[in-house]
Amino acid sequence: MAKTVKKDLVLSACVEINCCKLLVINNVSDLTLQISELKSLGKKIGFVPTMGALHIGHASLMKRSVRENDITVVSIFVNPRQFNNPEDLAKYPRTIETDIEFVEKTGVDIVFIPEEDDVYPVNFSVPEVDLGRLEVLMEGRMRPGHFDGVVQVLTRFFQLVQPDNAYFGLKDFQQVAVVRKMVEYLHLPVNIIACPIYRESSGLAFSSRNQRLTEAQKEEALFIYKSLLKAKELAKKMTPVQIAEIMKQDYSDSSMELEYFEIVDPVTLESLTDEWTPDAVACVVAYVGEVRLIDNMQLN
Ligand code: PAJ
Repeated sequence: MAKTVKKDLVLSACVEINCCKLLVINNVSDLTLQISELKSLGKKIGFVPTMGALHIGHASLMKRSVRENDITVVSIFVNPRQFNNPEDLAKYPRTIETDIEFVEKTGVDIVFIPEEDDVYPVNFSVPEVDLGRLEVLMEGRMRPGHFDGVVQVLTRFFQLVQPDNAYFGLKDFQQVAVVRKMVEYLHLPVNIIACPIYRESSGLAFSSRNQRLTEAQKEEALFIYKSLLKAKELAKKMTPVQIAEIMKQDYSDSSMELEYFEIVDPVTLESLTDEWTPDAVACVVAYVGEVRLIDNMQLN
């Protein structure tokens, strides 16, 4: 059973005698106490930030962190500042009780589940980070303010958790680029570790948003994975712009609504047209009903 932290129970003592269970922390002051103890003992801290509604994709990040660090901290916080659409925020799945049980099974040491006021106190100073073109490409273009919100929550969490390593999924390909840029810009002492996309056996990428899909819609959503495989095949003989055109046509013939399908340079994330660069990535966002799904695949 997970236990709620008590001020006098310091995780570092548990670690020394190898008896620790998952510690559930709900406020910044308890977290700060634990982290300063762990730091004073020289423990290596791994961090996996999440918005909950946890699935195997999240678990893959947690397990990797557990393997590579002395202590793993997972945060669960649906960050309102990264939602540009209030309805999307309202409908975001929240399954906190099952999430805690889920985290416990992965061997994580601390789960941090703060309230909004604690994450963003009145004196919170918004970090100034120049994300450059990342702010206007793909997710930046379609979700204005989204990456500002991601940067705000992660600078705050990095400051609190002080991780040596932080784990992110390549499912959110552009988010990984944003986090790397933020860390470089603010000179933060943390390694960013990008982890592969976890898919169901059908190929559908695990996503918290899949919980909002019916079984029939999950079948429909497979179209995304199939389109990425098709793009990969076409990449052997066509240019990026030709493939993007074919994809747009395929989606308009399907039941899905395409937001964008772009083949991009893996470093700059700029759209490719007539020339390939090594490790080009196809990035797609499409709607099944009201649910916005994101996926990507390396093509060459
Ligand atoms: P969330 O969508 O909960 O995702 C948390 C982490 O899990 C992200 O790094 C995401 O890329 C990764 N992830 C999600 N599905 C995955 C899959 N199928 N395979 C591998 N990794 C997967 O991303 C966020 O939350 C937020 O933006 C956050 C970083 C927590 C900031 O609020």
